[in-house]
Amino acid sequence: MAISLAHSTFCKSSLLFHRACVRSYILTPLASASTSSSAHSAIKPQHQKWRQPVASVVEIGGVKIVKDDVVRDDPTNNVPDTIFSKLGMQLHRRNHHPIGILKNAIYNYFDINYSGKFEKFDDLCPIVSAKQNFDDVLVPDDHVSRSYNDTYYIDPETVLRCHTSAHQADILTEGNTHFLVTGDVYRRDSIDSTHYPVFHQMEGVRVFSPHEWEASGMDATSYAAADLKKCLEGLAKHLFGAVEMRWVDSYFPFTNPSFELEINFQEKWLEVLGCGVMEQEILKRSGKINNVAWAFGLGLERLAMVLFEIPDIRLFWLTDERFTSQFSEGQLGVKFKPFSKFPPCYKDLSFWINDSFTENNLCEVVRGVAGDLVEEVKLIDNFTNKKGMTSHCYRIAYRSMERSLTDEEINQLQWNVRELVQSKLAVVLR
Ligand code: DAH
Repeated sequence: MAISLAHSTFCKSSLLFHRACVRSYILTPLASASTSSSAHSAIKPQHQKWRQPVASVVEIGGVKIVKDDVVRDDPTNNVPDTIFSKLGMQLHRRNHHPIGILKNAIYNYFDINYSGKFEKFDDLCPIVSAKQNFDDVLVPDDHVSRSYNDTYYIDPETVLRCHTSAHQADILTEGNTHFLVTGDVYRRDSIDSTHYPVFHQMEGVRVFSPHEWEASGMDATSYAAADLKKCLEGLAKHLFGAVEMRWVDSYFPFTNPSFELEINFQEKWLEVLGCGVMEQEILKRSGKINNVAWAFGLGLERLAMVLFEIPDIRLFWLTDERFTSQFSEGQLGVKFKPFSKFPPCYKDLSFWINDSFTENNLCEVVRGVAGDLVEEVKLIDNFTNKKGMTSHCYRIAYRSMERSLTDEEINQLQWNVRELVQSKLAVVLR
């Protein structure tokens, strides 16, 4: 089945750090965190019914992570149980999973073309400092991605990485000059078939020494930009075959100039990745003063959905054999065959919003109740009355990937959503 991942709005782009995504408001940590963290604590008793119990310890890269250290009932913590349960799943390290198959295909491209020169990191812990996630890659203090509305904070100094760029500076400081970092990344977001609060990214970095560009007669930046484009065009060809491509100028805090690569896939332009010439400041701080470097970041789900024709991002998390048995190691682009499609059920929810209302907080509540049974949460009506009160109406689509849901089950979910939206987001239902 053909699917389009072309972004309808800039903020639906997989590239969070794109300038167009900077919104005009920043939530104060306490205001927004209290909403979401109290939401998850109140949701706990209700979702037992639909969920497996969450393990209380996970191991990543040989390090044990205890749930109580990640999910705490504290206003500076906005990590729900459902997110903790994803830590350590590491879909990118499963060779028979579409995400792992794609990762291996990209590693393969670099191994073939750079004779194994790129060091690979795919077991780095997703719990990082806010400094690593933001400061080290020059994300401005007022950037929207730092808000509690967009990022999962464990405490004010510690986050679940929202991009693999969080590891760039440390790996450079350790002395590496060619490397790829793959990992699970976490973002509070809206709910639809291409957005899930956990997904996987790959970061690539290559550092050049003066002799490399001097011989070319080009200046350092032009040399790095030209090499970057050549490398990534080759990668796109390796993955997609002979496709039409175009470069679009972009903005990222960590690169200058910055670009996005798009490919023409089934008559639509699809954003494949973001990249650019690394800001000199990042290199300088990691002890590389006479160098220039390029970097790129790509979202694995976005590409895997196209390559394997996987129509909904929730499918990647299924343990159902009808999904898992369709993929095998080394087989990039085997087309996914949907097992019979189960009917969706739509329920509307209207309420008067307040000043602190955000769609991400609403989605967190809905996910807390319905988990992966929620397919989409969509604003379908929005108006402000004469008194200045604003009403939103959201349409929630419930659909299981594995079975038909009963009316009773859906009504119960919707009832729980209504209760919690009212109590946790302090909105007035209509
Ligand atoms: N970290 C960016 C994001 O998640 C993606 C990215 C863009 C990474 C450009 C890079 C880069 O290394 O150079 O939106």
